[in-house]
Amino acid sequence: MITSPTVHSLYGEALTSLLASQQGAHQYEVLPLGEARKHMRTVERVCELAARMKLDRRGLLVAVGGGVCSDIVTFAASMIRRGIDHLRIPTTLIGQVDAGIGIKGAVNLQGLKSFVGCFHPPAGVLLDRAFLQSLSIHAIREGLAEVLKMALVRDAELFARLERCGTQLVASRFQTPTLDGEQVVDQSIRLMLAELQQNPFEDLSSQRLVDMGHTFSPTLEERSRFRISHGDAVAVDMALTCAIAAELGLMSIHDAKRFIGLLVQLGLPVASPLLTVDACRDAIRSVVAHRRGHLNLVTPMRIGAATFLDQEPMTHRLLKAALARVTAFERELHSITVTPPKSSVRFLETGNATPAL
Ligand SMILES: NC(=O)c1ccc[n+]([C@@H]2O[C@H](COP(=O)([O-])OP(=O)(O)OC[C@H]3O[C@@H](n4cnc5c(N)ncnc54)[C@H](O)[C@@H]3O)[C@@H](O)[C@H]2O)c1
Ligand SMILES: [Zn+2]
Repeated sequence: MITSPTVHSLYGEALTSLLASQQGAHQYEVLPLGEARKHMRTVERVCELAARMKLDRRGLLVAVGGGVCSDIVTFAASMIRRGIDHLRIPTTLIGQVDAGIGIKGAVNLQGLKSFVGCFHPPAGVLLDRAFLQSLSIHAIREGLAEVLKMALVRDAELFARLERCGTQLVASRFQTPTLDGEQVVDQSIRLMLAELQQNPFEDLSSQRLVDMGHTFSPTLEERSRFRISHGDAVAVDMALTCAIAAELGLMSIHDAKRFIGLLVQLGLPVASPLLTVDACRDAIRSVVAHRRGHLNLVTPMRIGAATFLDQEPMTHRLLKAALARVTAFERELHSITVTPPKSSVRFLETGNATPAL
């Protein structure tokens, strides 16, 4: 069982007594994790631990933690003896609605986000919303970015629900309103799995609705040297994508503002000085390489429906106008907020992911 120091300090006792009650040999390892340690060396370390235990083919790796933990453990499990089982216990919201429920694992290489990885389905995923109680508000917001991604491409009702109760769900760390907390997580997982199941190994098509918010965000994460966290980068990406859709007349300005407005209301960032036109063009180049020669930008048409765009319309002029539009929306949203709660609006400083509250 692999976990991080933070999760160990919160749940170590429960985890070790759970392990102690199991039959057979087991080992509990606390490894320093985090995005900066999401690299091959950490995967190797997990493989070495397994080798030292002489883990056999019936062995099982268990990941208890956030997306970084499950990405590393998944990758290690795919390689140990050419593939052993693993179990995931996602303890973050991103883990529960996204990283923990898919079949992928990956780590960063040479500063490139998720450059090496695998498809390796878990033997099981244990989901318990109670873990979310100990998360930081920032981590909850990040998970909401992935939930909003699914709502934007597939589910207008889920979006409307988050407009109604998102602020309370953030404040209560998804514990109250109980039913909303439960159903928002469930629905987000259902939508995600329905999409993933159609093309689990991503070989049938490079058009994936779940890539919403994941075109400009990897470059933003890389350019910040991973100081801008995944969920924050996804939020900034989605805001820009809505602005691109509005610029092209694919999405109404009303809907684009509504979406960006909810990001702001929930305390997610919508812009970053690091996301320049130049960075966007870099992102497009690298995504085209990843998506087999096509951009396939998941572009919203309204809240709950999206289409795919190729690289031709992504001119310097369009990107510049869209970035300016996000800034204008953001300014407008601030000016109509009479008494903004101080923590509801965040800007990402250059190379600094610490919330500037
Ligand atoms: N493989 C995939 O399909 C996939 C999908 C989405 C995201 N990801 C990856 O997931 C990562 C982001 O995941 P994340 O946001 O979970 O980050 P993370 O794994 O770094 O966890 C964030 C922090 O929360 C702490 N933590 C975990 N559970 C906690 C709890 N219950 N209470 C308090 N603290 C807790 C962790 O120790 C860590 O410091 C990124 O690297 C991203 O690329 C992968
Ligand atoms: Zn993501």
